[in-house]
Amino acid sequence: MKARSCLAIVLAAGEGTRMRSGLPKVLHAIAGRSLLAHVLAAVADAKVGATAVVVGPGQKAVAAEAKRVIPGAECFVQRARRGTAHAVLAAKSAIGRGPDDILIIYGDTPLIRADTLKRLRAPLAAGAAVAVLAFRPSDPTGYGRLVTEGNKLVAIREDADASASEKSIGLCNGGIMALAGAQALAILERIGDRNRKGEFYLTDAVEVANGMKLNTLAIEVEEDEVRGINTKSQLAEAEAVAQQRLRKAALDRGVTLVAPETVFLSADTKFGKDVVVEPFVVFGTKVTVEDNAIIHAFSHLVGAHIGKGASVGPYARLRPGTRLGAGARIGNFVEVKEAVIEAGAKANHLSYIGDASVGADANIGAGTITCNYDGAEKHRTTIGKKAFIGSNSALVAPVAIGAGAYIGSGSVITKNVPAGALALARGRQVVKEGSAARLRSLKSIGKKKAHSD
Ligand code: UD1
Ligand code: CA
Repeated sequence: MKARSCLAIVLAAGEGTRMRSGLPKVLHAIAGRSLLAHVLAAVADAKVGATAVVVGPGQKAVAAEAKRVIPGAECFVQRARRGTAHAVLAAKSAIGRGPDDILIIYGDTPLIRADTLKRLRAPLAAGAAVAVLAFRPSDPTGYGRLVTEGNKLVAIREDADASASEKSIGLCNGGIMALAGAQALAILERIGDRNRKGEFYLTDAVEVANGMKLNTLAIEVEEDEVRGINTKSQLAEAEAVAQQRLRKAALDRGVTLVAPETVFLSADTKFGKDVVVEPFVVFGTKVTVEDNAIIHAFSHLVGAHIGKGASVGPYARLRPGTRLGAGARIGNFVEVKEAVIEAGAKANHLSYIGDASVGADANIGAGTITCNYDGAEKHRTTIGKKAFIGSNSALVAPVAIGAGAYIGSGSVITKNVPAGALALARGRQVVKEGSAARLRSLKSIGKKKAHSD
């Protein structure tokens, strides 16, 4: 049998005024990824054939985000915000291409899973015209209620239009709907706007289809999957669910999270085998951790690659462009940015390493700073393998330290140091035998004078 074709339509046109933000609602992020990107990732995983995204007028950033995640996605503009059914019809030309199935997903339900999208399509193959994803929220306020008669789905009543008895219904609309492609346009075009808000509600597709003697049904899922996000509080709740899922997935893969509830992950965080993450570590986007690495407590990582068996923290900050080789060690209060630290190299205490490459087994002493910025431009520091940088050195870039070179503590290095050389760049120490007492007496004279003034 030929696989059924499918078009996914993602509605993303709302400004989300209740978010109280200048950012379009669907561009708010959880687990380091926009709400829209979460939805589109589920769509991509569900192997839907074509994807249409409906954006608001001037929402170029939303369209760009859609294309970033699914380059082949087609974007449609809903000129005026006239309701969810009206938004779906913005993609009319895509619907007109006659897909077997149509999946409509709201861009503000980021926790939806690919498997659930597949499950919702299944009844269409069996002849249903409308399948709605339902759930029983702990608080149904604001959601559309599913009006049923026995097993039959009769209608969806929006919160604003529901009677007192309809408001007492616990089963709600999750904002995801599957429509049979053959009937979709006929159903959508029959939907009117006679309701409290004067909008064209997609939810009316159920009543319309029933009027056309077509089959409609609801499939129930867990609340977490269909949490709709209209406010910052709901955004925070969804973040908590996303974090729980990511922690669980990491634990299931064998990562040791000593206190999982204190570790924050991104949707794209990748772990190898036997990785240990101590409490209170934050993984921003684009972090990869290879086998046997350990991330000690209170470290903050973004855009960093951690090689096999490397050690990070406690209290380390790894910024984008950090690449740690196997067994490298980055210790407490060390910040690394745009820098490659080769295998076995160490910077164990209080350093800044930016725009640099550090050769294998080099040792960066406590307090070393790469002075990468001259106020106008950024410059690179190159440190050869097995070089030794004495504590509290300032390496003024652009500068290169050769392999095996030795930099005396407290040096300010402004010129290249050849391989194997010793460089000292600091004031020479002066020692005056017996002069301590003379200095003290001078000081006490100074004090007496100050009193008599
Ligand atoms: C909607 C449903 C409600 C359901 C809830 C689930 C309708 C009428 N109501 O309510 O039954 O329980 O979601 O979360 O469908 N959008 C557009 N253009 C528009 C209007 C909305 O693109 O003209 C988009 C929004 O960006 C959003 C989605 O559609 O992503 C849902 O709109 P929203 O206003 O959040 O609907 P709810 O009131 O939450
Ligand atoms: Ca919503």
